[in-house]
Amino acid sequence: MTAQPDATSPAPGPADVSLGIGKLIVPSVIGGLVALTLGVYGGLHHPTGVVVNIAGFSSAGYVKSWLATIATFFAIVQVGSALVMYGKIPRVTAPSWIGMLHQWSGRIAFLAAVPVAVDCLYGLGFQTYSTRVLIHSVLGCAFFGAFTVKMLILPKRGLPGWTLPVAGAVVFIVLVGVWFTSAFWFFSTFGIHH
Ligand code: HEM
Repeated sequence: MTAQPDATSPAPGPADVSLGIGKLIVPSVIGGLVALTLGVYGGLHHPTGVVVNIAGFSSAGYVKSWLATIATFFAIVQVGSALVMYGKIPRVTAPSWIGMLHQWSGRIAFLAAVPVAVDCLYGLGFQTYSTRVLIHSVLGCAFFGAFTVKMLILPKRGLPGWTLPVAGAVVFIVLVGVWFTSAFWFFSTFGIHH
């Protein structure tokens, strides 16, 4: 979480605000480059087809769709725990373990998403053969760019208070978009099983 403004400290002036916003430039450029690099790699690399499958699953598509669903579930826990931490849920006081829940749900969501994205990038590549697949490819790359931005601004002090919530919301919305254009479509087309 960002440091909450101290009630005794003076309100930030325009110079402080622009300095704070200036601190976003480098993380945003790096995040943009991460997304772009993945997209260019996914476009240039010759897709190899399925990379991995796991015993017990009928196809790699199911492994990926369940992992993507696990990632999205833990991302929802991330948003819920953030809302509790920021005091946005009426009548709910943040328990002492909420920060831990927030960190671990984020780690699990990311760890679940990485192998799926590796399979997508390496095995399927950046594809444009339908609007859904194009949106999925763009959002898949954008997810890692947005995640990079969030991680890079996390330790920074002096940023405007809205920065981290906005970065977190963008990562979440992009992941939900990735899920809708892949796992949701996959389950709706082939059925929900493993
Ligand atoms: C957070 C990252 C990502 C997640 C969670 C994810 C998840 C999935 C899932 C669950 C599927 C359906 C299973 C399958 O058809 O194999 C899929 C398909 C696909 N993904 Fe990803 N993906 C991610 C990133 C990417 C990236 C970065 C690219 C390419 C740049 C990409 C390209 C594709 C393509 C082309 C398909 C096949 C779509 C189809 O024909 O239905 N994905 N993805």
